[in-house]
Amino acid sequence: MKKLFTAFLLISFAWSCNEATKDVPKEEKQELSETGMTIVNGVERSELALLMRKMYDEMKLVKDSINQGYEVKTDFYEEFKRIQTAHATEPEKIDDTYQAMAGAFLDNYSLFEQTAENQTEAFNIMLQNCLVCHQQKCPGPVKAINKLKIQP
Ligand code: HEC
Repeated sequence: MKKLFTAFLLISFAWSCNEATKDVPKEEKQELSETGMTIVNGVERSELALLMRKMYDEMKLVKDSINQGYEVKTDFYEEFKRIQTAHATEPEKIDDTYQAMAGAFLDNYSLFEQTAENQTEAFNIMLQNCLVCHQQKCPGPVKAINKLKIQP
């Protein structure tokens, strides 16, 4: 029972790259595979989707902390670098354009991690790099990512 509950929680937060699928989820079939990986409509969440989900959650925490006036110190660069190699739901999306945008994102993420003053600006610039890629490759979460922006 506990396992099922966990699966439900994960799935209720799952995004799709395709904006049009918003009204579909009611009938979504949820189950746990034997390995404990989450399955949505019979498809395992990709390594990249899980990593993205983590990036989103961490950036939400960072935003909240900065908003509360804290100076934030993160150490995620090495982990986030995996966006260059992680397996995607649609591997054909991982082309040269994707890699160029991933590189730009990582450069700006690294700059954000090195910034102690005016973190809001560095954070928003980094976030802009999430959006550039998402507008081209995965529009579904664009609205949610936009909401992470910090009002200066
Ligand atoms: C270089 C392109 C690129 C960058 C940069 C990028 N994303 Fe993504 N993102 C993707 C792609 C492609 C997917 C689809 C992954 C899949 O389904 O395998 C995705 C998926 C997601 C998802 C949906 C995950 C799920 O639950 O299925 C979220 C949320 C997300 N990204 C947030 C972010 C945030 C926040 C940032 C910046 C901190 C970011 N992304 C940076 C390309 C990018």
